[in-house]
Amino acid sequence: MARLCASPRFVSRWRTDRSVLFSCLCLIVLASAAEAGLYTASDQIVLLSQRNVRSALVNSSAAMVVEFYASWCGHCVAFSPYYKKLARDIKEWKPAVNVAAIDCAEEGNNKVCSYDYEVRGYPTIKFFPAYSEADSTGRPYRDLRNLRHRIIDSLEAHKEPWPPACPPLEPISQAELDVFFETNNVQHLALIFEDVNSYVGREVTLDLLQFDNIAVRRVLKSDHSLVTKLGVTEFPSCYLHQPGGNFTRLRVNFEARAFYSYALQRLPGVVRSGNPPMVLTQIHTNSTEEPWRPFNRSRVYMADLESALHYSLRVEVAAFDVLEKDTLKALNKYVSVLAKYFPGRPMVMNLLKSLNSWLKNQTDNQISYEAFKQVLDNTAQVPHTALPEGVRWVGCQGSQPHFRRYPCGVWTLFHVLTVQANATGGSDHLEVLNAMRNYIRHFFGCRDCAEHFENMAREDLASVDSLQSAMTWLWFRHNRVNNRIAGALSEDPLFPKIQWPSPEMCPSCHTVSESGEHKWKKEQVLSFLLSYFSSSSILTDYLEDETQILEKQKEKHARQQEAAAARKHRERKAREALNSVTLPPSPSPAEEEEEEEEESPQDEAVAYEEEEGEEGAQAASEMEGKSSEPTSWVQTEMDLSRDRRQAPRFSRFAGMRFGKPEGNRGLPSIIGMRFREKRDDIVDLDSFVNQHFKDKALQLAASSRVKQRTLQTKVEQEPRPGFGLSMELDTALGMMGLQPVDVDLEGKGKRRQKRGLAGQYFRRETEMTHKGRWMSALSIGFSNLDISLCVVLYSLSAICLVLMYHFFKNRLKRRPVKIALA
Ligand SMILES: Cc1cc2nc3c(=O)[nH]c(=O)nc-3n(C[C@H](O)[C@H](O)[C@H](O)COP(=O)(O)OP(=O)(O)OC[C@H]3O[C@@H](n4cnc5c(N)ncnc54)[C@H](O)[C@@H]3O)c2cc1C
Ligand SMILES: *[C@@H]1O[C@H](CO)[C@@H](O)[C@H](O)[C@H]1NC(C)=O
Ligand SMILES: *[C@@H]1O[C@H](CO)[C@@H](O)[C@H](O)[C@H]1NC(C)=O
Ligand SMILES: *[C@@H]1O[C@H](CO)[C@@H](O)[C@H](O)[C@H]1NC(C)=O
Repeated sequence: MARLCASPRFVSRWRTDRSVLFSCLCLIVLASAAEAGLYTASDQIVLLSQRNVRSALVNSSAAMVVEFYASWCGHCVAFSPYYKKLARDIKEWKPAVNVAAIDCAEEGNNKVCSYDYEVRGYPTIKFFPAYSEADSTGRPYRDLRNLRHRIIDSLEAHKEPWPPACPPLEPISQAELDVFFETNNVQHLALIFEDVNSYVGREVTLDLLQFDNIAVRRVLKSDHSLVTKLGVTEFPSCYLHQPGGNFTRLRVNFEARAFYSYALQRLPGVVRSGNPPMVLTQIHTNSTEEPWRPFNRSRVYMADLESALHYSLRVEVAAFDVLEKDTLKALNKYVSVLAKYFPGRPMVMNLLKSLNSWLKNQTDNQISYEAFKQVLDNTAQVPHTALPEGVRWVGCQGSQPHFRRYPCGVWTLFHVLTVQANATGGSDHLEVLNAMRNYIRHFFGCRDCAEHFENMAREDLASVDSLQSAMTWLWFRHNRVNNRIAGALSEDPLFPKIQWPSPEMCPSCHTVSESGEHKWKKEQVLSFLLSYFSSSSILTDYLEDETQILEKQKEKHARQQEAAAARKHRERKAREALNSVTLPPSPSPAEEEEEEEEESPQDEAVAYEEEEGEEGAQAASEMEGKSSEPTSWVQTEMDLSRDRRQAPRFSRFAGMRFGKPEGNRGLPSIIGMRFREKRDDIVDLDSFVNQHFKDKALQLAASSRVKQRTLQTKVEQEPRPGFGLSMELDTALGMMGLQPVDVDLEGKGKRRQKRGLAGQYFRRETEMTHKGRWMSALSIGFSNLDISLCVVLYSLSAICLVLMYHFFKNRLKRRPVKIALA
């Protein structure tokens, strides 16, 4: 009771760090300012206070029913659920008669209640006719039982001016009926035949007052002319009268108010006031929107669930750069529930599970969304793991882009999760609902919705005591939301809010009490929920193909890698350019090796592949020269002499004498060349020899090498081995050794086959290109030995040149140093 009376301020709990939500939050603050008493803005009750009570009650075009209560009064607290229920029950009557409440226990209101409205005890409920005067104190109801009927009595007794929105409530006469369609511009007239004491006719009349194209009137059992004319024997019963003059009985599951109203609101041509009559074919005919996907309205679609996952994880959660404390907890719970109960395809489940275990392994108090996204997008390329990107609404399509979609997906998702938790026998019956509550509270973009949902959760989420009651709780609250927002701007006219499931969907779910009130058969509803949201009845229509999704993911990954490699490459270049302005050229071997480790060979290859022209090939050639020696010329040289092999490096050491760190390959030596040009002509020779030496010997081999690598990376990307280690090994062994460890057993055979083929192709091509190039370069007809000899001689002469050059260079350089020392 204290819980209800105290009604803590809801808004202060919301994090205000999102500037986007700021304006929404302001609205919530304003709205909740009046929410100190037993009712909230979620209750379909106008919340009155000393400030707005006059403007609400004086000269209103609708009659008003007002409860004067004190939040500390036990009676009032006990009565409040009934009052809320009444407000929901007659929500459609609002334009004619509205429901309000004022908390007289609040300081400022006290005087208003006792002096202006002469309230002596709590709760007091008064009826204020439409267009009441300022001094009107209202007519109190003595009997609070059957308030709905009392309100109808009050309306019937209403004096002029009659509330303009209120339809006539008196029985129709034969004379009126004869000219009805001449004087009323409607397609349907519903006649409800009933006993004089029955309220059904008048209730249905009021239930439909917000709908166009239909009128409802009651006919009394005592009106013999009409009763005999139609041969009516059952009371109540409903007949439809069309302009043509014929009468047809309205078929309903039960002859009761709820069923009449439901059926009449769904007649062809009957629409909520203000909504143009719409048919599906008119929609999406000329828009650039995606085409309409036909679907079965009484089924659940996996495409909606996956779309909801995508939107929540990639859009809503992404609103937070950093997740910490409550948001992190909420995310953790949400993902954990998804990993446990989401009935997804294996690919999606793999992703949810890896996401969940990643989150569980985070020990920091905060994580960045960026890091989360890496796992979400599977950048580690774990095989057969993906959450499709983008939305593809099917059962949640709306007739306009702003209708349904994501909120519909959220509801569906959580219904499915509660049902799945029940099916798999989860241990904590509040697990899913708490996860939902926290998700809605922290991430759901519709802040108004979040507030209302939190109000409901606070009210009685604690009453849930089993997995089954969790399912029914959500079903029941969802219906409450449907009731509240029926007819609101957010309602898709093509998908009107109903109390779900409809009598057509689940006839056995509905029944009526002795007094004719609609009642749910909870047992039937439960089993309906169980089958409707069960994993086996979820349709997979319109789902994107798994292989396609994985392919897309792979491509995206490759693009990102490429971009990253290119960026690295650019950065390195920039760094090099910077270094070479201040530093002498030729790199030190040590330095180069470090460079090497920084980038995986794969990255390099991709970067070069992207690059066009000599520079890339050159850089690749240099890299090749070091990292994998066994090109023919290096081998030969090694065989011949160690000293000579070191010769090219000599120049590098020479550069180091200045004690400056090295710039490296290619480009820097060219810049450095220019730098020294002014001082020394011989430097030209240095770089020339260096370049020439390397170029001539490596260019050809290199070009074929680049191809190999390209091929290698391509092959590498396609079939992914199961674990990182084997992948690395694989790369290191040039893909000729280990088989990939495939997690997916089905694809295993195929992949191996592919890979084997790729390996062969790779080797053969290497041989071919090598030989071919050398042949064409050195003319055909030479034996391998001849060629080797030529190469050796060529290398030797080059080395000689280098040695000579360095000898002279050193002699020259020593002089300026000596001078400086002197
Ligand atoms: C937590 C939450 C709170 C919201 N609060 C508001 C709000 O305060 N104001 C507002 O304007 N909008 C609110 N919305 C949005 C609103 O509820 C609808 O989601 C939205 O208007 C789209 O409606 P829809 O026609 O697609 O059906 P939805 O209400 O989204 O329902 C989706 C589907 O679930 C099924 N379904 C319907 N009712 C039930 C039920 N009782 N039990 C089980 N399944 C059912 C139906 O097949 C339906 O098509 C909220 C949404 C959520 C998720
Ligand atoms: C009451 O409202 C009507 C229109 O709704 C207006 O014409 C009339 O002047 C108002 N009367 C008073 C006393 O404010
Ligand atoms: C289709 O286009 C016409 C004008 O080109 C526009 O008036 C109409 O509203 C459009 N219909 C829809 C459903 O967008
Ligand atoms: C839609 O689904 C329901 C429930 O499975 C089924 O009875 C009905 O025949 C389906 N309707 C269509 C048009 O497929």
